[in-house]
Amino acid sequence: MRRELHLCLKVFTESVFQIQSGEEDLHAGPLEIGFNAPLLVREERLSSCPDACRLAYVSDIHLRGGRSGHIAKQVIDAVCRCAANAVLLGGDLIDSSSELDSLRALVKQLARFAPVLAVGGNHDSRVGTSQVCDAVQNGGGAWIQNGSVDVRHNSRVISVCGPDFATRPTGDVRVLCAHNPRIWKTTRHAGYDLVLAGHLHGCQFVAFEFRDRLFPGAVFYPYNYLSHQFGATRLVVSRGISDLVPIRWRCPREVVLCYV
Ligand SMILES: [Fe+2]
Repeated sequence: MRRELHLCLKVFTESVFQIQSGEEDLHAGPLEIGFNAPLLVREERLSSCPDACRLAYVSDIHLRGGRSGHIAKQVIDAVCRCAANAVLLGGDLIDSSSELDSLRALVKQLARFAPVLAVGGNHDSRVGTSQVCDAVQNGGGAWIQNGSVDVRHNSRVISVCGPDFATRPTGDVRVLCAHNPRIWKTTRHAGYDLVLAGHLHGCQFVAFEFRDRLFPGAVFYPYNYLSHQFGATRLVVSRGISDLVPIRWRCPREVVLCYV
């Protein structure tokens, strides 16, 4: 424990020193106030095949009055850059029922690129899960909260399951599309190749990364990971698209492009 604390302090000190000396890793993202910076497309490779299936995971869009149009444009631009074979929406899609039409329109636009599969988050539950589900389906997407969809890619089947899917996943590649990364505790032994989650927004401020987790957020939220491998299963946690208070430091807003 003492050694780990020492390592933490060392990584933190080096991180601060780098920032003060102007050597900050720009990929990590500087201070961002507002939503002007384009979304980062972060790549996660589970397969190095040239014909790997490309899954764009988009979490925590949080459409809300006054900014839905701008955020939707940024999501469409990022998904377009991904050249995705499927778009997975990871919950917290809207913050109020006034944005149901915006969500439907966004799903309709995304469905022009690739099949759209969606699950809900805690904010969607507050609005009403059935209303959010209807908006996704009316836009041409599939609601997979307690189901699964097989995405066929060349000769392979990519099974994408929702967080309440009760059956053991099948398919050549098994993907769990979830919202809260707490699900990792019960699903890391469940036979998935990839578990996708969001919810934490990276905690918006990142001083340093240690053992796959972002600090200081991970002190309070132990699942504040970026990417973490356990046996044959990879956990990928997105830092999300937008926040209630739009201030971030070294925590870029992002779409995660997974090669499976
Ligand atoms: Fe969220």
